Amino acid sequence: MDSILIQGGVALQGKVRIQGSKNAALPVLAATLLTGEGSLIKNCPRISDVYAMVSLLKGLGCSVCWQENGISIDASSVQRCEIGDRAVTGMRSSLCLLGALIGRCGRVVMEHPGGCVIGRRPIDLHLAALEQMGVAFQEEGGKLRAEADRLCGAHIVLPFPSVGATENVVLAAVLAEGDTLLEGAALEPEVETLCRYLKCCGARIEGAGGGTLLIRGGRRLCGTEFAIPADRIVAGTYLFGCIGAGGSVFLEEAPWQEMGAVLRLAEDMGGRICTSREGIYVQAPCRPAAAGCVRTAPYPGFPTDLQSVVLAVAAAADGESLIRETIFENRFRVVEELRRMGAVIEEEGVDVVRVRGTERLRGARVESRELRGGAALAVAGIMAQGETAVTGCQYIYRGYENICRDLRELGARVTSA
Ligand code: UD1
Repeated sequence: MDSILIQGGVALQGKVRIQGSKNAALPVLAATLLTGEGSLIKNCPRISDVYAMVSLLKGLGCSVCWQENGISIDASSVQRCEIGDRAVTGMRSSLCLLGALIGRCGRVVMEHPGGCVIGRRPIDLHLAALEQMGVAFQEEGGKLRAEADRLCGAHIVLPFPSVGATENVVLAAVLAEGDTLLEGAALEPEVETLCRYLKCCGARIEGAGGGTLLIRGGRRLCGTEFAIPADRIVAGTYLFGCIGAGGSVFLEEAPWQEMGAVLRLAEDMGGRICTSREGIYVQAPCRPAAAGCVRTAPYPGFPTDLQSVVLAVAAAADGESLIRETIFENRFRVVEELRRMGAVIEEEGVDVVRVRGTERLRGARVESRELRGGAALAVAGIMAQGETAVTGCQYIYRGYENICRDLRELGARVTSA
C-alpha cells in the first residue's frame, strides 16, 4: 500500500464525508493525560499519527481502547514520564506530550520530537514559555529532560503565534499553581478545540479562540466525552482537487466556518461555492483560473498546510501565480516532482515560487516526501492526463485516513498498490 495509482483527467463528481482533524485530535489525546479519569474521544481519524500517539499513551501507562465510535483513554494509572519510543522522533505533535506530562507528573524525559521534514522546526518558543512556568530543561545524549519542582502560572508573551507552543502552555497551565496569562497565542481553530476539551473536563480557560488566554490553574480535571471536529486541511485538499480537475462535489461536514481564506482563493480560481450546515458544495470549470498572489500566514490567513496543494492546481491553471511561503522554510520540496509532470515552476528566492500554468499536467511516477506534498501529488495526479504513480504514501497516511477511497467517492480513478 505504498503507492497510489491514478488515471487522471476526469472531472470529479460525488460526495465525501470529511474525517476528523489530525491537528485537533493529537493535542486532545495528549490532554487526556491531565485527567484522572477516562475520556471517550469521538471522531478521531484513523491515521498513522493518531496510532503513534495512542502507542505513546499506552507506553506511559494509559489504558487505551479503540471503539466503534472513538477512542476511550483512561490515564488514571499513569506513572511513567519517560517516552523513549521511536514514534516521538517521527511525529512533531508528540511535542504536546511535553506540556501534558509536565502538568501531570512535573517531569519528562523524551527524544527530540520530529515530524515532516519541512524546515528546521526549532522548539525554542516552547522551552522559553515553559521555563517561565518554572520548568528547567537539560539536553543529554539527544534526549530532552524537563523538570519542575513547582509548576507555576506566569505571564507569557509569545513573540510568534506558534500553534504547538500555545498548546503546550495551555496543557501545562491547567494543572499549574495559579493563573497563566498567555498573550500572542495562536488563533488556529485547533487551539480552541483543545481549550474546549479541557473546559469540558473542568478546566477554567478564558478567551479561547482569541490571542489572549487566561488559564486558571490548579483544578482537578475529570473525564468527558468529546468529538473531534472535521479536518479543515483534508476538506481543503479535496476542495482544491475539484478546482483542479473540474466538476462538482459535496464535502460533507467540511468546517467552512474555519476555511474563509481557503474558500476565497477557491472562488478566485473559478470555483462556485455554497456552504450550508451540512458542508461545502463546490462546482468548478474544467480549467482553473490562476491563483494570483498567495501568501501563507498564521490563521486566519491562508494555511501553509494547503500551500503545496494550491501549487499543484496552479501548475495547470490559466495564467501565472506567485506563491509565497512565510511559515516553514523548505516547504517547496514538491516542486521537483511537479516538474516531472510538466509543471513550469521557477524558484524566486527561498520562499517564493512563480508558477506558469500549463494547459495540462501529464501523468508520471512521482515520490511523496512529506505529508502535504504527498497529498498535492495525488491532486496533481487526478488533474493530469494519463497515469500517475505516487510512491512514498506512508507520509500521506500520517494525515489522510484513506485518500484513495475518498477520491474514488469523488469520482476519481484511483487505486492503491
Ligand atoms: C502546527 C501544525 C502544522 C501547521 C503549523 C502551522 C500540528 C500537529 N501541526 O505545527 O500542521 O503547518 O501548526 O499552522 O498541529 N517555531 C519556532 N520555534 C518554536 C516553535 C515554532 O521558531 O519553538 C517556528 C516554526 O519553525 C515555524 C513556525 O514557527 O516556522 C510555525 O510553527 P508552529 O506554529 O509552532 O507549528 P507547529 O505547531 O509545529
